[in-house]
Amino acid sequence: MQEHWPHPPVRVERRGVSEAESRAANGPDWDRYADEYQATHGEFLGDAGFVWGPEGLTESEAGILGDVVGKHVLEVGSGAGQCSRWVRSQGGLSFGLDLSHRQLQHSRRLDEQTGVAVPSVLGTATDLPFADGSFDVVFCSFGALQFVQDIELAVAETARVLSPGGRFAFSITHPTRWMFPDDPTEAGLVASQSYWDRTPYVEVEDDTGQVAYVEHHRTLGDWVRVLAASGFVITTLLEPEWPAGHDRLWGGWSAVRGRFTPGTAIFGCTKAPTGKPNAGPRRA
Ligand SMILES: C[S@@+](CC[C@H](N)C(=O)[O-])C[C@H]1O[C@@H](n2cnc3c(N)ncnc32)[C@H](O)[C@@H]1O
Repeated sequence: MQEHWPHPPVRVERRGVSEAESRAANGPDWDRYADEYQATHGEFLGDAGFVWGPEGLTESEAGILGDVVGKHVLEVGSGAGQCSRWVRSQGGLSFGLDLSHRQLQHSRRLDEQTGVAVPSVLGTATDLPFADGSFDVVFCSFGALQFVQDIELAVAETARVLSPGGRFAFSITHPTRWMFPDDPTEAGLVASQSYWDRTPYVEVEDDTGQVAYVEHHRTLGDWVRVLAASGFVITTLLEPEWPAGHDRLWGGWSAVRGRFTPGTAIFGCTKAPTGKPNAGPRRA
């Protein structure tokens, strides 16, 4: 689960939640958490840096987006826009979209501090406010996708705003992590729940019973099915190893666990030139 500081007091439940409930909970949750997130991780991310996850793999090392020079690029779940600012520093025309107003205020702060502005909008991955075929590249670095219930719609929206042959890349918590407690110590290496149980992780406010935070899980097979259904061809699946000497903690990510099990999955895909969905089974 994503590291964050619940406020007000919450209890954890495992139950189904709709897309509307997920969005209504996660926007305010990220508003509450944004200051803490940027204070804790901002230096590691770099004001104009592109890091794919807690292992510290950068886009300049991974090269998953391909050449971005002169390309129209959309970052979904852009937070403070660090990755998009890096894309701009490489000659790409990157734009941000995020559900959290407070995260976008941090983006604006970094625009002013760095002199590299990322034009950004408030919105959701499931309803992108852009015309068909607007972008050559769409990416998410731990942004949006694991917080969205209607993942078919989010991926279809991505395909819609991409031009034929466009690139889609995203990082998420590695699906196998779902089996383990969100604990960076050795205790977090003992599987305690089923990999195949997609019941969302939900935090509910003690006082009001309102859903305060939601995270969704898909297996690797689910991702292949969803991407193919929207016409994507998967070309890359990176599972970065924990680098020697990297001892930074990020929630449940640590050197202790990183030695044994992947914490991040990074998919790279291309939208089929015809834009037609790829044939495949509906569900494994
Ligand atoms: C873990 S942060 C990652 C932010 C940024 N990519 C980074 O590396 O710091 C996840 C971001 O996704 C955003 N988010 C959550 N649900 C979203 C949705 N449905 N649509 C767009 N953004 C969303 C959050 O507001 C948050 O800024």
